[in-house]
Amino acid sequence: MLTRENIQELLRPLTDTESGKSLVELQLIRDIMIKEDRISLSVICLSTEEQSRMELEQRVRELLEAGGVGNVHIRLRDATDFERSQIRGDSEQEAEEGSDGKLKGHAAGLEGHELINENSGVHFIAVASGKGGVGKSTVTVNLAVALARMGKKVGLIDADIYGFSIPDMMGMEEGPIVEEGTIIPVERFGVKVMSMGFFIRENSPVIWRGPMLGKMLRQFFSDVGWGELDYMLLDLPPGTGDVALDVHQMLPQSKEIIVTTPHATAAFVAARAGSMALQTDHEIMGVIENMSYYECSSCGQKDYVFGRGGGARLAETLHTELLAQIPLGAPDNHISEPDFSPSVYKAETQTAQLFADIASKLISKCEEK
Ligand SMILES: Nc1ncnc2c1ncn2[C@@H]1O[C@H](COP(=O)(O)OP(=O)(O)OP(=O)(O)O)[C@@H](O)[C@H]1O
Ligand SMILES: [Mg+2]
Repeated sequence: MLTRENIQELLRPLTDTESGKSLVELQLIRDIMIKEDRISLSVICLSTEEQSRMELEQRVRELLEAGGVGNVHIRLRDATDFERSQIRGDSEQEAEEGSDGKLKGHAAGLEGHELINENSGVHFIAVASGKGGVGKSTVTVNLAVALARMGKKVGLIDADIYGFSIPDMMGMEEGPIVEEGTIIPVERFGVKVMSMGFFIRENSPVIWRGPMLGKMLRQFFSDVGWGELDYMLLDLPPGTGDVALDVHQMLPQSKEIIVTTPHATAAFVAARAGSMALQTDHEIMGVIENMSYYECSSCGQKDYVFGRGGGARLAETLHTELLAQIPLGAPDNHISEPDFSPSVYKAETQTAQLFADIASKLISKCEEK
């Protein structure tokens, strides 16, 4: 039986004329679907010349036919400027590396950008955690949705470049479109979203060197048409690595929320993320303790499965407030619903109400000064 790997193998000889790299390796052959004897796939074209596009399509057909695959539907799509710069921007990127191999000034070059500008009126809130899997992305998504439900104009940047998860968590199927060189963020539940997940398909692992990360984040600002915003939330990667540091450098005015579980060790590790924020002069708006307890649906009793007190202790250590304790419980959403999204709690639920309460607190902290 034919597999996606077979198709990729057959198409491996196709190369990008400029870099000589295989189009398969460059992930320009996407959405390979095999239904019985019929194949469909997308080819992302780097060239806009009609002639080369036709030749490319022809070559795809020939290679597949030579491999015994005749019934093929090919979609040709222009590479976005963003995708093109990812592929063609390599040499420029190398120049950014210092002699010690470390990146100099990832975050440079954004000064004066209309969003980042001190007077833009946009409130930046970065959501950080000490370790992975504590629910940082879940918190970011639901806070963004809560703010939007309150009528705020909200953007969300999935700054977890390696471990992006926001598009899936929000149930987003469409990627952004490009209009006159500007990437238009995808909107869901009133939140404008930008994520690396829109540009990397097929869930392949992302292996990039440091410089790429800073560059990517920069492009999330410079090449994206955000329009008018009140709040921009950033889902940071876990820990205190390069990207978190980049974001701090890039957005000096950004405030921060730290997410932890109630477990003492998690809270201790989260304190590191907090001290990074403080060292880089970022105000910590508060701590959110997630997975705080499990509430029995019949008797209402709270079971503190992961221990107790981590959030409160962390807030104390960081001289900030414990904004909320979010219970365990996945959203009760069904895949058959039209706006299915695995991680967004419906407005009428208790958990959504907790996020609404946090959103109100953030609004008063940000706007009533
Ligand atoms: N309150 C909760 N109740 C039940 N499940 C939850 C809760 N919060 C998060 N989860 C689940 O826990 C897992 C990790 O959550 P999430 O992806 O938000 O964490 P993260 O800190 O962003 O992780 P990563 O470090 O991988 O980015 C997900 O499967 C998510 O659905
Ligand atoms: Mg995450």
